Amino acid sequence: MIKVLFVCLGNICRSPTAEGVFRELVRRQGLEGDILADSAGTSGWHVGAPPDSRSQAEARRRGVDLSGLRSRKVTEEDFGRFDLILGMDRDNVEDLLDICPPDRKDRVRLFTEFARTHRAGCVPDPYYGGPDGFAKVFDLVEDCAGGLLEHLLLRGGGHGE
Ligand code: 4NP
Repeated sequence: MIKVLFVCLGNICRSPTAEGVFRELVRRQGLEGDILADSAGTSGWHVGAPPDSRSQAEARRRGVDLSGLRSRKVTEEDFGRFDLILGMDRDNVEDLLDICPPDRKDRVRLFTEFARTHRAGCVPDPYYGGPDGFAKVFDLVEDCAGGLLEHLLLRGGGHGE
């Protein structure tokens, strides 16, 4: 079982979108028993909250249901449980590395490393912007999620618990 954790600041916009999109790709490939996805936030500001209604609306338009997800904060245990911990932007990656045990730092990466067609240094925070931002996040996340799945299928196997 390969375990992937998507991380952003609030865990209500970008990382739940990534979790939902990636899970949908995994489901379509019939790989639910092989790949597990979850998401969390570095801040804990929205713990227990469902994804932002704008993220949910954009995802719903594209056939992805985020309504069952709830925000949680990243914990130290996550670094032992997940094979890959993917920050949406550089601040997320820095915050993750700050709390990550030294021997687990290689598990922390930037999600956009897996982009196939987009050239983006990060998944930009859409929270204070207009609806356009949410559509852009979805496009970019879809691209990166596809690249991530391809990467995992080529690599095979997991090393989490
Ligand atoms: P996310 O977006 O990190 O993609 O979930 C944000 C959500 C909430 C806030 C900032 C970003 N906030 O400031 O509350």
